Amino acid sequence: MKIIRTPEAMQKHALDLKRTGRSIGGVPTMGFLHEGHVSLMRLARAQCDVLVVSIFVNPTQFGPNEDLKTYPRDFSRDESLCEQAGVDLLFYPEPTAMYAADASSWIDEASLSGGLCGATRPGHFRGVCTVVAKLFNLMQLDIAVFGEKDAQQLRIIERMVRDLNFPVNILRGPIVREPDGLAMSSRNKYLSAEQREAALCLRRSLDNVEEQFAAGERNTAVLRQTVVDWIASVPGAELDYIEVVDDRSLAAVETIESDTLVALAVKFGAVRLIDNAVLCRSP
Ligand code: PAF
Repeated sequence: MKIIRTPEAMQKHALDLKRTGRSIGGVPTMGFLHEGHVSLMRLARAQCDVLVVSIFVNPTQFGPNEDLKTYPRDFSRDESLCEQAGVDLLFYPEPTAMYAADASSWIDEASLSGGLCGATRPGHFRGVCTVVAKLFNLMQLDIAVFGEKDAQQLRIIERMVRDLNFPVNILRGPIVREPDGLAMSSRNKYLSAEQREAALCLRRSLDNVEEQFAAGERNTAVLRQTVVDWIASVPGAELDYIEVVDDRSLAAVETIESDTLVALAVKFGAVRLIDNAVLCRSP
């Protein structure tokens, strides 16, 4: 596995590979890798000649009061996980190399980014879209895999790729969960034992919504209230949002008639976790 540390070297290497006719698949990450990331690497690995993973804790997607400084990092562990997963190229740039001090060009997706996580994290998806576009240009990806845990991010990236004609095929990787149902996340590391137990309320409240949906409930106010009540009963859990939205437009839905995304974010002290489920997914 080759480690590349500068954007220039990454782009040159990728363009050289493209000239030899090889396809490049990639998994953009912020590091502190877990089984969820590894599952995305496996998906990409099966569909490309060269597999590239980027590790970059992107400063532009963190708000001023968010956890950029404390975001977990462990490069040597990440490096060996990538090696084991059959990664060919690991792109690990310095933040100062990725953004010029006077960088002033951004990608702002203007329809899907406002609600859900975008409502409490203003500017977050502008940072995500901009860095993902930069990574596509640097890594020259034919295929890129993103996880379904970040449901809104995934839909925004798909929209950006469509709207701006990026020649990249986006694949969706299913959510990977711990045996007790907690969705894998780099931020799980920061949960205390009590918070780790409390964090099961995300999956459990989604299970509850799915059960009500299976039993015929279509009124989203009723489904949302179930989650509000559930989370309120969990000590140490503070609901950031619970939204029931159209799976494509991410617009709020009152009565479920087509594919619908149920997404929530819950805070446990300083740790904010997200999870989601899709109801009524077309076969
Ligand atoms: O999902 C993430 O880890 C990040 O948002 C991404 C897509 C790597 C962009 O920094």
